[in-house]
Amino acid sequence: MKVIWNNQIVDREEVRIDPEDRGYQFGDGIYEVVRAYNGYFFGLDEHVDRLYSSADKIEMKIPQTKEEMKTLMTRLLNESDIQTGNLYLQATRGIASPRNHVYPDMSVLPTITGTVTTVPRDAHKIETGITTITEPDIRWLKCDIKSISLLGNIMAKHEAHKNNAEEAILHRDGIVTECSASNVAIVKDDVIYTHPDGHLILPGVTKIVWLACAKELGIEVKEEPFTLAQLKDADEVFCSSTTIEVMPIHTIDGETVNGGKRGKITAKLADAFKIKIEETCGEI
Ligand SMILES: Cc1ncc(COP(=O)(O)O)c(C=O)c1O
Repeated sequence: MKVIWNNQIVDREEVRIDPEDRGYQFGDGIYEVVRAYNGYFFGLDEHVDRLYSSADKIEMKIPQTKEEMKTLMTRLLNESDIQTGNLYLQATRGIASPRNHVYPDMSVLPTITGTVTTVPRDAHKIETGITTITEPDIRWLKCDIKSISLLGNIMAKHEAHKNNAEEAILHRDGIVTECSASNVAIVKDDVIYTHPDGHLILPGVTKIVWLACAKELGIEVKEEPFTLAQLKDADEVFCSSTTIEVMPIHTIDGETVNGGKRGKITAKLADAFKIKIEETCGEI
């Protein structure tokens, strides 16, 4: 298996992670997941922009330019000969000894690793949807940074898993923020509501695309907070991420949404999203 290691593409066996790497010791790092279809990335520019924005927010300097990073990621995809799958890229603040919470000086270079794996598109699930639970959002207050420190997210996802659900919808004091690994939106009376960007959610690349689709389709969107009560009373609910696209939610805490069927607005957005992918990556 080929992987990115700092500025090179190497065999996985060649990679050595130091026990004093700050990603390993502190969770001091950031990441991105980019989807590829038919051997082409979808939304690469937006993902790389967000990676560098996350880096800026934690005062980390990635040595490569954005263009060099895109070239490295594209080389990994091509050399791995993967058609449809996910590229995971992470950058940690590098190796510093002795362990010290204070950031090391800028001469310490980040450790960059990247892997790509085949993950087929689940067209069936995009039509039928997923089961969810609601969970308190116990995460920190800088959720706009795509941090590798994901304990709050994985604890919520694990809770969902224990309850035979696939995703956890998070709320802070009754205001729905996002899901453990996706953004979330509701539809009520033909209007879409989704939490505005800011410190409480990750600004999703998939969300950027479906917002554009909604605009093109003339569907009204209100980027404003909504409550758990509104969630439970919605006509349709969907979540979105790079790996699951526009995904209907058919059950929340054991209660079905829209009789357990994908709603018409969710379906329109999912179809429009697929067309956007096909414009970049060919037929899927
Ligand atoms: C917490 C969280 N919110 C939202 C998203 C959706 O982001 P994107 O559409 O860029 O994948 C993700 C994706 O992993 C996520 O982990």
